[in-house]
Amino acid sequence: QKHGQLKDKRIVISAGGTVEAIDPVRYISNRSSGKMGYALARAAAEQGADVTLVSATTQLPDPVGVTTIHIQSAQELSEQMFAMLPEADAVIMAAAVSDYRMSQTAENKLKKQDSGQLHLTLVENPDILAQLGSAKTNQYLVGFAAETQNLMTYAQNKLKKKNADMLVANDVSKNQVGFGYDTNQVTILTKDNEPELLPLQSKITLAREIMKKISVAING
Ligand code: C5P
Repeated sequence: QKHGQLKDKRIVISAGGTVEAIDPVRYISNRSSGKMGYALARAAAEQGADVTLVSATTQLPDPVGVTTIHIQSAQELSEQMFAMLPEADAVIMAAAVSDYRMSQTAENKLKKQDSGQLHLTLVENPDILAQLGSAKTNQYLVGFAAETQNLMTYAQNKLKKKNADMLVANDVSKNQVGFGYDTNQVTILTKDNEPELLPLQSKITLAREIMKKISVAING
């Protein structure tokens, strides 16, 4: 029997770095560890939520008490997120989505070129958060923004442009913050409240704080 502030709430969370195939053996990806998204899934489950974690690549074990779906590409991630949007109370996009993919994945392993150069043509992936922002009805939508400069300006713009309800912004140029670390230091922006700067803390402690704010927002 589940109990907690998020009992009976459906929370969908994306995590990890997407993988875009170049050919059958090579890919484009990024340095996302998945730690923040996995911590959010754990924190939501602790609060009694029915949690689905849509996971791109990570080295992490599936969290206990959470339904974990493994995907690779941004397009697969998009399909899963849209399939679950109608039933969700809150959707959190913590995944690091590749902005580009191959215009065409090579069917066979690419061979070395005689010219000494290899040109790959990339096309833009859909911005899943922005598309969820346009499609949502009353789901509470949360995005992340990792920046190395002009953090607050970029984050405010993303909150608006992507129609998110909350944006968790981190300055990844700082030590111990963001990609790969067990700690994070973020500013939380919402549509209605002043930006809130939180202290450097472990990702699980931060995840519990973020989930608490989401539960207050969705419980009204
Ligand atoms: O624009 P930027 O990539 O900085 O935005 C980050 C936020 O948007 C994250 O929540 C990320 O999961 C989401 N995103 C997305 N689809 C993309 C790129 C980013 O959903 N193609």
